[in-house]
Amino acid sequence: MKIAIFASGNGSNAENIIRYFRARAAEGIEVALVVCNRPGAMVISRASALGVPVATVSAADLRSPDTILPLLDGYGIGAIILAGFLQIVPSFITARYAGRILNIHPSLLPRFGGKGMYGRHVHEAVVASGASETGITVHHVTERYDEGAIVFQTSIPVSPEDTPGTVEARIHELERIHFPRVIAETLRRLPDNL
Ligand code: GAR
Repeated sequence: MKIAIFASGNGSNAENIIRYFRARAAEGIEVALVVCNRPGAMVISRASALGVPVATVSAADLRSPDTILPLLDGYGIGAIILAGFLQIVPSFITARYAGRILNIHPSLLPRFGGKGMYGRHVHEAVVASGASETGITVHHVTERYDEGAIVFQTSIPVSPEDTPGTVEARIHELERIHFPRVIAETLRRLPDNL
């Protein structure tokens, strides 16, 4: 199955997913395209350095079926992974790729989710709340932020000494360990093509 990663920023998850599937040909999954909505984002150079094609799309491109669908079809994309992608995915994409779009969120949804809750903002809110645990959530994607059926969660304790930075580092490590494997296990159950 060929998959596209949608990402907006740093791209550490995108790079990890690309490397994971390259090293495991038996999984039958290839990252064939990275779609980025922010020109200059680090994910673009990470993907390019690994030889993965990158398409930079504007917000208008993303909302245009005549632009996005031919792009995805041109690369034979059968599933989409959101890895730090900060725009809403329009309903014509969620409908066409029903059950084939996964997102990772750096908290235990439904806590600390929704609009504006991304990256460091999530960890700041977790620490400010005094929560004793946090974690990661992999979930199916709908046209609303951070909703959709949960596929996987795992947690870590948060201590009073933690800062948003220490929590973020441990969350990134959880993402690195679990996200590619959860992608593989979820997509394995689906036919390769739409
Ligand atoms: C990741 O921690 C991901 O869970 C989070 O953004 C970070 C992206 O890091 N996503 C969200 O907050 C989505 N609401 P990366 O660009 O280094 O992969």
